[in-house]
Amino acid sequence: MMTANEIRDSYKKFFESKGHVIVPSAPMVIKDDPTLMFTNAGMNQWKDIILGTKEPAPRRRADSQKCLRVSGKHNDLEEVGHDTYHHTMFEMLGNWSFGDYFKEEAIDYAWEYLVDVLKLDPADLYVTVFEGSPEENISRDDEAASCWLKHLPEDHIINGNKHDNFWEMGDTGPCGPCSEIHVDSRSAEDKAKKPGRELVNMGDPQVIEIWNIVFMQFNRKSDGSLEPLAMNVIDTGMGFERLVRMLQKKNSNYDTDIFQPVIKEMERLCGKKYGFTTPSGKNGEAANEQEKIDIAMRVVADHMRAVAFSIADGQLPGNAKAGYVIRRILRRAVRYAYTFLGQKEAFIFKLLTVFIHEMGGAYPELPAQRELIARVIKEEEDSFLRTLEKGINLLTNAMDEMKKQGKTELDGKEAFRLFDTYGFPLDLTELICRENGFTVDEKQFDEEMEQQKARARNAAAVENGDWVVLKEGEQEFVGYDYTEYECSILRYRKVTQKKSSFYELVLNHTPFYGEMGGQVGDQGVLVSEDETVDIIDTKRENNQSIHIVKELPKNVEADFMACVDTDKRDASAANHSATHLLDYALKQVLGEHAEQKGSYVSPDTLRFDFSHFQKVTDEELRQVERLVNDMIRQDIKREEHRETPIEEAKKMGAVALFGEKYGDKVRVISFGPSCEFCGGIHATSTGRIGFFKIVSESSVAAGVRRIEAMTGQNCEEAIYALEDTLRDLKAMFNNAKDLKGVIAKYIEEHDSMKKEMESFRQQAADRAAKSLAERVQVVNGINVVKAVLPVEPASAKDIVFKVREAIPEKLVCVLGSVYENRPLLSIMLSDDMVKEHNMNAGQIIREAAKLIKGGGGGQPHYAQAGGKDADGVNAAVEKVIELANL
Ligand code: ALA
Repeated sequence: MMTANEIRDSYKKFFESKGHVIVPSAPMVIKDDPTLMFTNAGMNQWKDIILGTKEPAPRRRADSQKCLRVSGKHNDLEEVGHDTYHHTMFEMLGNWSFGDYFKEEAIDYAWEYLVDVLKLDPADLYVTVFEGSPEENISRDDEAASCWLKHLPEDHIINGNKHDNFWEMGDTGPCGPCSEIHVDSRSAEDKAKKPGRELVNMGDPQVIEIWNIVFMQFNRKSDGSLEPLAMNVIDTGMGFERLVRMLQKKNSNYDTDIFQPVIKEMERLCGKKYGFTTPSGKNGEAANEQEKIDIAMRVVADHMRAVAFSIADGQLPGNAKAGYVIRRILRRAVRYAYTFLGQKEAFIFKLLTVFIHEMGGAYPELPAQRELIARVIKEEEDSFLRTLEKGINLLTNAMDEMKKQGKTELDGKEAFRLFDTYGFPLDLTELICRENGFTVDEKQFDEEMEQQKARARNAAAVENGDWVVLKEGEQEFVGYDYTEYECSILRYRKVTQKKSSFYELVLNHTPFYGEMGGQVGDQGVLVSEDETVDIIDTKRENNQSIHIVKELPKNVEADFMACVDTDKRDASAANHSATHLLDYALKQVLGEHAEQKGSYVSPDTLRFDFSHFQKVTDEELRQVERLVNDMIRQDIKREEHRETPIEEAKKMGAVALFGEKYGDKVRVISFGPSCEFCGGIHATSTGRIGFFKIVSESSVAAGVRRIEAMTGQNCEEAIYALEDTLRDLKAMFNNAKDLKGVIAKYIEEHDSMKKEMESFRQQAADRAAKSLAERVQVVNGINVVKAVLPVEPASAKDIVFKVREAIPEKLVCVLGSVYENRPLLSIMLSDDMVKEHNMNAGQIIREAAKLIKGGGGGQPHYAQAGGKDADGVNAAVEKVIELANL
């Protein structure tokens, strides 16, 4: 039996033998595409080639791509664990032809690989072809059907509808009809009872799709129309986990050697057995305890993989966007482990050792970042478990309250609040409620959820108009050599966000750097004979600089000069080069593990995130600064190698980033010993940076630290500001030579004065209390002490307590005090007044405080209330006496 790793290799070898270049998986996390957060299909990284904006050679390629389907058009999250063949993260085996072979060869290759190489039984294979769509004016895919007929009898070829057999990447973008290959892996007995063709695409867990062959022929535009592509493209995707399951003759993807080692480790760690069951309740729900355990183990095994890979690709769990998606996946796993595997403490991170042992060979980014992945997952687990505890407490209180009121259904709003504020999912709320004999108003919960989604949609809605094409062609970026260049507009479009709108321009030649790799985009102007238009920002999309302008030029067809704002660019370039030096220096001072995890470079500042597991000490920070400034003073010339083959760049020792997508050729930037893969704009030599100063060091996530720093003129300004402060300080202390000594002395004196004042205040309170006690009035046998005094709040409290020390029985003491025009009412009762006369200071004060326009409360024997109206203080004191009802 072939192992999973052998199967992956055999796929690559097969397509290599058919003239395909084997390429590495692109990162699973997408950084420079606003329309997609995660790679959800093998073809994502080829979008530009398919749309014709990038060179197609080599025209035949194949790979195994890490994919994540948890957001957007392709979202399988809720199925995962409940069935045996969906995953969040999965590997997609793919082969591509960009304007080379088309339907016939694609089908022949697939057949040869499955039947001749892997020896699947043709009798078990069924294929689908697109039935056509009159409204899109596309007829049935007879061509694909006739190609299949070479290999399969007619009754194994099934027509499929638009949902299953017209593949689209998203709402817009490349698309086309497709043919899916399904495998019937049921027992001979079951096959005899019902032919497999009746179960294709019917949700039967034993008759499943393994390979999708897409015949890309169109581009879906934002108005919904289809535009033919310039060339025919083959895009195929085979579910690796499903293929392995077929070949290893298992009933579930989770029973293969991809998942079993991790599941075995889980069994060992939590003392529960995996039962190889599938849920038998309705809608994929578990019908018994064993099924619940099995679902939970599948969820944990799947989600741990997805989260580990995304951290390795540089995406940490977070509060927004991609980070939030990852956080949700991990939290789903924690919740299943907590509820069904009895794991009340972090445990998912413990599975990583086994997982990385299995996967590390094919994906070296995992072992290389083992420690970071484990720390991040553990910290997330710890913090979510605390949240779970908090949520459970809140829910317990809510249920107690319901019991008191005789209610049996939890308010949907309350359930939503638990979900929204505490990350407490509905099914968990329901589970706990059910265990305690309560239900949840699901309808109201759904309504709340809908309202929130609508709010989010409105806030984020961005409408992209279609591109208006003035001239065909590709953009050439000239910004490494020029800051001004002659150009014309190739295409433009309008973008509307909320109520405002702007335009995006693509120029044929541009010196403008589009935001990428942490460096912000250039600003500047577009000048023609008749007008000047401000370019307020430059983004990067599909490898092109997109220039943002508030208004279109009046004549969009004019010739322009594109001029970059060089002051801003030079400042950004200096900060970017300083970031490289910082990266180098951190590795020298802290060690090679200090890998870049993110960066941001603008004209004003630079920010650099890196993996490191404790606070960087002040001494280490100084060392880093000294190293960087030393390199600045050496004025090391920039060396730039463009279009360097990636292998050569690695030999030069250039530092690459995990999770970054590099082409076959890369740009390398070095300043002496600092050498990195980088597409950014840099200073011509380190001297241009001027000076480097770290401003702060902090933690951004488990195992990730952040340094913020500044350079050049910003440092100069900061030094002036410091100097001014120091000068002012000195002036305040009579230009003392030993400023530190003088200030220390002042602090000492200040402290001792404070102590002395406190003691005076106490003495004054003593005296006031004593004189009040002496002036006690006896009313019906009760000792009444009342007064209004101009004392501060702390003294008011001391005074009433001291009065009670002096008169411990039958005491009603009320003190009104006014300090800095703020009134305060204090009531003190002796214990017997509370116990025998049923008086309650807390209640009385609520009523009396209204007269000072305030509120407060306290205990039965002592209460205080502040207010806003000092004029009412006498009346409030009298009110207390009245309410005491002596
Ligand atoms: N792009 C196709 C898919 O993802 C192959 O199914």
